[in-house]
Amino acid sequence: MALPLEGKLTRKSTVPVADIFLNRWSPRALSGEKLTPEELLPLFEAARWAPSSYNNQPWRFIVAERDTPEWETLFALLGEFNQQWCKNAGALAVVISGNNFAYNGKPARTHSFDTGSAWMSLALQANHLGLIAHGMEGFDYDRAKRDLQIPDEYTVEAMVAVGKPGEKSDLSEDLQKMEQPSDRKPLGEMIFKGKFGQSFI
Ligand SMILES: Cc1cc2nc3c(=O)[nH]c(=O)nc-3n(C[C@H](O)[C@H](O)[C@H](O)COP(=O)(O)O)c2cc1C
Repeated sequence: MALPLEGKLTRKSTVPVADIFLNRWSPRALSGEKLTPEELLPLFEAARWAPSSYNNQPWRFIVAERDTPEWETLFALLGEFNQQWCKNAGALAVVISGNNFAYNGKPARTHSFDTGSAWMSLALQANHLGLIAHGMEGFDYDRAKRDLQIPDEYTVEAMVAVGKPGEKSDLSEDLQKMEQPSDRKPLGEMIFKGKFGQSFI
C-alpha cells in the first residue's frame, strides 16, 4: 500500500498552523512511474510565484525526466545513498540560483534565501497534488557545475527528486526504518525576543 502523504497524521504542532505545513514531508518510497507535463509543470509554476529580493527570481531548475538521456547525467551526480531510492523517481532537478541582480549585475545577498523559498513552494505544491518532492544535498556539486555547463555566476544549491508515492516495503530495511514524518525542535529554540538567545516563549 502506498504511504499516506499526510504528515499531519503523526505530527503535532505547538500552536495551530495550516495543514499543508504538517502534511509535507520527504518520503523515499517512489513508484518508478514517469510524470506527465500536467503533473510536473505545476511544481515549477508554484516555485515561480515565490517572493525574492527586488523580485529578482534567481532560481533556475535543470530538470531530467526518467527514461531520457538527461536522466543518466543527473542520476550520475547523486551519491550512492540517494541513488538507491532515487532510481524510482519520476524526475530529478538540480536547483541553482543566480548570484547577482539581473537589473544591475551587483551581488544579490539573498539569492540562496530566495531560492529556498521557491523550493518550499515546489514541495508544498507537490504534496498538494499527492506527489513527492524530496530535497537532496547528497550529490557532487562540482561535477554538477561541470556536466550541466552551469555558468560561474550561478550557485548550485541542491537537487530535488520528484515522483509518485511507492511502496515502503520496496525500500531496503534501513530506509524503511527512516520512512516516516520527522519531528522538529521546540518552537522556543527558534525564536528569540529582541536579541540572540533571549526566550520569546
Ligand atoms: C536542502 C536539503 C537537502 C537534503 N538532502 C538529503 C539527501 O541528500 N538525502 C536524503 O535522503 N534526504 C535529504 N534531505 C531530506 C531531509 O533529511 C528532510 O527534509 C528532513 O529530515 C526533514 O524531514 P521532512 O522533509 O520529512 O519534514 C534534504 C532536505 C533538504 C531540504
